[in-house]
Amino acid sequence: MTGRYDDHPFIRACRGLPHQRVPVWFMRQAGRSLPEYRAIRGEGTILDAIADPELSTEITLQPVRRYDVDAAILYSDIVVPAHAVGFGLTVTPGVGPEVERPFRTEADLQRLRPLDPEADTPYVLATVRQLVAELDRPLIGFAGAPFTVASYLVEGRPSKDHAITKALMFANEPLWHSLLDRLADMAITSLRSQIDAGASAIQLFDSWAGALSAAQYRRFVYPHSEKVLSAIADTGVPRIHFGVTTGELLDQIGAAGADVVGVDWRVPLDQARRRVGAGKALQGNLDPTVVFAGAEVACAAAREVLAANDGHPGHVFNLGHGVMPTTDPDVLTEVVKTVHAEGTVRSEPAE
Ligand code: CP3
Repeated sequence: MTGRYDDHPFIRACRGLPHQRVPVWFMRQAGRSLPEYRAIRGEGTILDAIADPELSTEITLQPVRRYDVDAAILYSDIVVPAHAVGFGLTVTPGVGPEVERPFRTEADLQRLRPLDPEADTPYVLATVRQLVAELDRPLIGFAGAPFTVASYLVEGRPSKDHAITKALMFANEPLWHSLLDRLADMAITSLRSQIDAGASAIQLFDSWAGALSAAQYRRFVYPHSEKVLSAIADTGVPRIHFGVTTGELLDQIGAAGADVVGVDWRVPLDQARRRVGAGKALQGNLDPTVVFAGAEVACAAAREVLAANDGHPGHVFNLGHGVMPTTDPDVLTEVVKTVHAEGTVRSEPAE
């Protein structure tokens, strides 16, 4: 499978191939940390902004212009497909996704009919197509992984312990698997439509998978995320698989079918590479709070990330989680410059 950006450092790094400079982008690079975002975002929920392709295109491009990052990531949200099929949710500013009637019983499965991207989320595809026409670098499409989306649908709001979600998982395993299977199908359909519209890579966000033990992840989550990632293998686009607090899960996050394993800041990249095993690239893993200590400290920490990677070609520099809203964007500009200027890539292909 060949693509327009096969020779781009970001795509080559995802494939573990030698390239000229360490590529960098930031999760949540668009959004409230940028004054230019706050200036155009408007009233209403983020779902309203996502439904406006002109606005979403501009918001996606803002951090690319400002930081000269190596990839754009579509401005959207992991709950968009569930919202689009009428599950009944909103994203409350400052809070996150909230559901009117949380998922609790068999009958709720009917509220998750299959996604028809052209009919249900035409605005997402319009945004992807417009971005692909305007960008001179790869666009990353994405979806929420079944567990993390389920956690919002079951809890009804953001949760720290995911207790209601895990209680459903333990108490009614058949219903749990039916729910995750539907969410897997939704993610597959959404990702394929973004790839068909021109996305050059995808990321599967399982942000809250770290709430599970390795055994729980293996039994209740792995089969569904594996289904998503293997269903898009034939497209040939790099697949990034990311979660937070996944130190004990990194081998499974990789084995589920990722080309690139997203690593949070808790596990240094050299250790992460041993846990993930050969043949996969890593993405990460600067602590997103280090930027609050100023540019000098942040750039020193970025150098430590580069040192832990030790020139391995399979490395995409990123934060260990998303840019926080109070981040000073000028510090991130300095981090990008440091990575581009000082990151070195060994010339042998990844083993
Ligand atoms: O990375 C990017 O810049 C791409 C855009 C993107 C958003 N959400 C935009 C957004 C992506 C990839 C997401 C994914 C997402 N959404 C995740 C997984 C990534 C992660 O952070 O772990 C999760 C868990 C969500 C659910 C969600 N949506 C939360 C928890 C929030 C924050 C609520 C708040 O206001 O603090 C949102 C809203 C959201 N999604 C914002 C943005 C820019 C901020 C709200 C706004 O501008 O109104």
